[in-house]
Amino acid sequence: METSTQVDQYRIRPMQMKDYEKVFQLWLNIQNFSIRSLDDSKEGVERFLARNPETSVVAIMDDKIVGSILCGHDGRRGCFYHVCVDKDYRRRGIGKAMVAVSMETLRKENINKVSLIAFTKNDVGNAFWNHIGWTKREDLNYYDFVLNTENIERFTQ
Ligand SMILES: CC(C)(COP(=O)(O)OP(=O)(O)OC[C@H]1O[C@@H](n2cnc3c(N)ncnc32)[C@H](O)[C@@H]1OP(=O)(O)O)[C@@H](O)C(=O)NCCC(=O)NCCS
Repeated sequence: METSTQVDQYRIRPMQMKDYEKVFQLWLNIQNFSIRSLDDSKEGVERFLARNPETSVVAIMDDKIVGSILCGHDGRRGCFYHVCVDKDYRRRGIGKAMVAVSMETLRKENINKVSLIAFTKNDVGNAFWNHIGWTKREDLNYYDFVLNTENIERFTQ
């Protein structure tokens, strides 16, 4: 069942595949966003949403998708990807409200912790996470290993 949260003039609801093209366009308009050729393709997002049907969200205002979060979990930890708000709609609480909705859905699915990666050079992103009370971990290193070299990363302008 689709539930949505209405705050002032914007509305937040779960992301569905029908939103993909608009959300992808939103990503392309965010400066310095990292987009992966496979993970962020229609097939990649479809797979992600099939595993996590309730936790990703879009924000709608003026009949447009102005914000989105890909959020999922593996049964233990939650993870956020591509948290973004259209630059014309920032600083009015949409980002924080989307984060709150995704976190509440994770809690309902018995997930006790959520994390994300922010590039160190992303001043806006880091300011946002610090401001809304997330903890920047100084006591660990992040490790990964590429399993498929065709999943090419590119950065938006
Ligand atoms: C980060 C982002 C999603 C924030 O969205 P937003 O809708 O503007 O954020 P909000 O209006 O909900 O702000 C929430 C709080 O963070 C603060 N905040 C937001 N952007 C900030 C900034 N650039 N500098 C300092 N504080 C900031 C707000 O003042 C607000 O504080 P309050 O709760 O005391 O009122 C948006 O700036 C964005 O899309 N940035 C580009 C993509 C990106 O960097 N995403 C994060 C990837 S890790």
